[in-house]
Amino acid sequence: MSAPAHPGATTRGVVYRDLLEQFRSAEILSAELDARLLMAAATQVDEVALIADPDQLVEVRHLDVLRGYVRRRLSGEPVSRILGHREFWGLPFSLNRATLDPRADSETLVEAVLAHVTGRNASLQILDLGTGTGCLLLALLSELPNAHGRGIDCSADAVEAAAGNALRLGLADRATFSVGDWGDGLEGPFDLLVSNPPYIPSADIAGLSKEVRAHDPMAALDGGDDGLTAYRHIARDTQRLLGPDGAAYWELGIGQSEDVSGIASDAGLEVCGLHADLGGVPRVLGVKRRI
Ligand SMILES: C[S@@+](CC[C@H](N)C(=O)[O-])C[C@H]1O[C@@H](n2cnc3c(N)ncnc32)[C@H](O)[C@@H]1O
Repeated sequence: MSAPAHPGATTRGVVYRDLLEQFRSAEILSAELDARLLMAAATQVDEVALIADPDQLVEVRHLDVLRGYVRRRLSGEPVSRILGHREFWGLPFSLNRATLDPRADSETLVEAVLAHVTGRNASLQILDLGTGTGCLLLALLSELPNAHGRGIDCSADAVEAAAGNALRLGLADRATFSVGDWGDGLEGPFDLLVSNPPYIPSADIAGLSKEVRAHDPMAALDGGDDGLTAYRHIARDTQRLLGPDGAAYWELGIGQSEDVSGIASDAGLEVCGLHADLGGVPRVLGVKRRI
């Protein structure tokens, strides 16, 4: 951010326009949103107040914080990483270096599960394999007041982040998190199994945008040679851990629905639904045990 000639006299409106110009010049697609979020965080006021009162002066110490944020954003760091949190399913989730930044597309999985559940008050046991921030499991628990859940991740730091999120969201009494290799060592039955595994083929990682490649953890992205390694493990876990009337929902990468359906079928599972995200991409596969 350019240094104002009279820092004490810089208003919110001037700072916002300056930010917008910088972000647009850097071809940041979400320039307006990013400028608002970073300004709100740096000045410690909410976004509505920022817009409602553009003539309010911005304190010098807040400008200093904002300059640091802007430098990081212009170097390609996503806003959620700079601020350390991301909204998912209308809930705030803290991130750390070991967690994927939750994606809006993954809300398709939450919607698919909720459409499947008959009766929101049912007492359900939910397993989330590769829980990251815990966003899938905790979003579901926030909608299903009598459900309990278990979240597994190979990263101890991700497990710590998920447990912290459960605590802040008031869901810790119904959610437990532990380190594990997918479903190894777990005992079922679970009524619902959800998973958003790493599904990018290893060779494609280098071609991802810098925002993803440099800031999301490799364990959350790399799906092995064909991108499908994790599904093979999770399919076996699903067959073993799902109750007879249970259902599992797995997030898919673009173009993976046929291959993953084949993996499910080979593991003795039956495909019971394919759900598209808002962009029309088949994003979530529903499976159950073959009777
Ligand atoms: C694509 S991220 C999904 C995170 C979160 N569920 C979400 O939707 O935002 C995949 C997660 O699987 C975890 N993971 C990778 N390999 C694993 C393994 N062998 N066992 C358990 N978790 C694993 C990663 O650490 C990462 O948190």
